Amino acid sequence: MIHYPSDSPARTVTVDLGQRSYPIYIGSDILGRFGEAFESHCGRRRAVIISDQTVWDLYGPTVEQSLRRANVETQAVSVPPGEKSKCLAMVEMIYGRLFEFSTERSDVIVALGGGVVGDLAGFVAATFKRGLPYVQVPSSLLAMVDSSIGGKTGINHPRGKNMIGAFHQPQMVFADCATLKTLPARELGCGLAETVKHGIIRDAAFFASLEANSQPILALEPDRLIELVERNCRIKAAVVSADEREAGLRGILNCGHTIGHALETVWASRGGDIHHGEAVSLGLVAAGRLALRRSLLRPDELERIRQLLGSFRLPVRIEPPGGPEAIPANADRAACALPGDLPEIPLATLYEAMRHDKKVQAGRIRFALPKSIGNCVFQDDLTESEIKQAISSLGE
Ligand code: GLY
Repeated sequence: MIHYPSDSPARTVTVDLGQRSYPIYIGSDILGRFGEAFESHCGRRRAVIISDQTVWDLYGPTVEQSLRRANVETQAVSVPPGEKSKCLAMVEMIYGRLFEFSTERSDVIVALGGGVVGDLAGFVAATFKRGLPYVQVPSSLLAMVDSSIGGKTGINHPRGKNMIGAFHQPQMVFADCATLKTLPARELGCGLAETVKHGIIRDAAFFASLEANSQPILALEPDRLIELVERNCRIKAAVVSADEREAGLRGILNCGHTIGHALETVWASRGGDIHHGEAVSLGLVAAGRLALRRSLLRPDELERIRQLLGSFRLPVRIEPPGGPEAIPANADRAACALPGDLPEIPLATLYEAMRHDKKVQAGRIRFALPKSIGNCVFQDDLTESEIKQAISSLGE
């Protein structure tokens, strides 16, 4: 049973997992009250805050002081910002610090940061001394609407993203939307891509509200942001509550990620500059094309998906060599494109990357495809040629 403080400054969403249920608090300028929520949900007296250097400099002292006001003793570890920190060497470094702090199983890890910190700190919490409780304090939109919820923790391996990990649910998620003011625009895009995905797979009304509100959202209007994060959290929480370990339904959250992950991995391995949200955006368009081919989606629905992604300044196609050098900040929707060299990345390389994805079952690539806007179905019988055509079409 979760007890919410009666004067809570935040909205709450519950991830319903029986004894392991936990609240997601969502508000604006609430970081100073983190200690109260910690006390009420964790009831522990020692915490280790894991953050990255950038986020720590911005918000670490506020979180630390708030915990101290609640009589919680704190220690802190910070890692360099960026995806490279999601590796085994960083996990070992953090284990070393936890031994130095004499961290016990009754202590709590606080993951303060974006998706990288959440996944890394969550993995440390899942494994140190066979498991410590942890809480997520997401400071990026991606982490607020997706990665901090649902207990997926992990690190990357040279052979693939998120290949080493564990399911370990947090005790609480505490999202202060005011932290989004300091988030770089491209990072905001990463969260917006997941937001569009949530609308496509689960909620047509939410998708329509995104179409109507893309400008206030991009302008970071506090009320819009709170509502945006809350609606995303409700969608994700419902999916996780129904299928915690991705035995079935949770796979719909992978919509756009099968092709998206392959693009991200191959592009990055060749020195290309691509962010997760940009890859997911392209992956959603490619998934839409596959759905169109299978008569699951109408052409006008695919166009709405492209328009919405474009209105959030996310790429919906890849420029052939010789195309524009960069995405202009005020890019026209239809012109949103990622400058790239897709035609020079052999389709066979991308296809091979997909075949090593975690979503492959019995050698078949399982796609979550939109079925109109607001629904999603699984398809595992797409041919190699259909998949390659959908990827190629991103260059058109
Ligand atoms: N981000 C996909 C999931 O949590 O299942």
